[in-house]
Amino acid sequence: MSAQTQIRRKTVKDIAKAKGGDPLVCLTAYDATVAELLDPYCDILLVGDSVGMVVHGLPSTVGVTMEMMILHGQAVMRGASKAFVVVDMPFGSYETNSDQAFLNAARLMQETGCQAVKIESGAYAATQIRHLVERGIPVMGHVGLRPQAINVDGGFRAKGRSQDEWNKAIAEAVAADEAGAFAIVVEGVAPDLADEITNRVSCPTIGIGASANCDGQILVTNDMLGMTDWVPKFVKKNADLKSAIENAAETYASEVKSRTFPGDAQTYKLRKTAKS
Ligand code: KIV
Repeated sequence: MSAQTQIRRKTVKDIAKAKGGDPLVCLTAYDATVAELLDPYCDILLVGDSVGMVVHGLPSTVGVTMEMMILHGQAVMRGASKAFVVVDMPFGSYETNSDQAFLNAARLMQETGCQAVKIESGAYAATQIRHLVERGIPVMGHVGLRPQAINVDGGFRAKGRSQDEWNKAIAEAVAADEAGAFAIVVEGVAPDLADEITNRVSCPTIGIGASANCDGQILVTNDMLGMTDWVPKFVKKNADLKSAIENAAETYASEVKSRTFPGDAQTYKLRKTAKS
């Protein structure tokens, strides 16, 4: 590709500019093939730690490791050329202190080439966010339902049902914003709360199970593609890939068993040449 036809990758400035403007289109991606397919349509591709549940079959995101995030981050970076790529910091990689957070965030950026990291930002994490941003690492926050905290929450539960939870979600978002987060994911809260957060913070909010008034939306791609029967209430399936894959596998199995596959079109026709 010549320098002139090279596609410019979005930057953190492009994302920040979207506050109050056209909604940011964001999806998760975990591999190069899907990243390449989604890239033309997305402002942000998130290598979410949901990869642990969606790809590796883990019961939650708590078991996700740095190595998993690096492997999938590298794959997505190979597939995406235009979208701004964010990699999740896994549980246990940033909570201890700012030094731990910096070393792991720097490793994610150096080994994957991603543009930013995401931290599930409880109030304490504002210290880590400020530390990373001051040292050159753009950080996306994540408030409301925080999947890495399911063991204290007792499951995946929507947030903001009590006044305390409502205030906590706002305080966490404001703390992340003031610490320098360039965007904040707002997950699993009622639209009123998401709207209040969007109005209170200066950076774009990215909703998931939140409000159409957020500055952008994100979904787990496998949910949006309908790869499983069950999806959370806030997902709209735009495809039924589960049925498509099952039907294709069934056709393949029956053609293998009936010896109709491979057919003429799938076999090589090599002419024998006389040996010299
Ligand atoms: O891990 C993930 O995929 C996420 C998104 C759902 C926001 O954090």
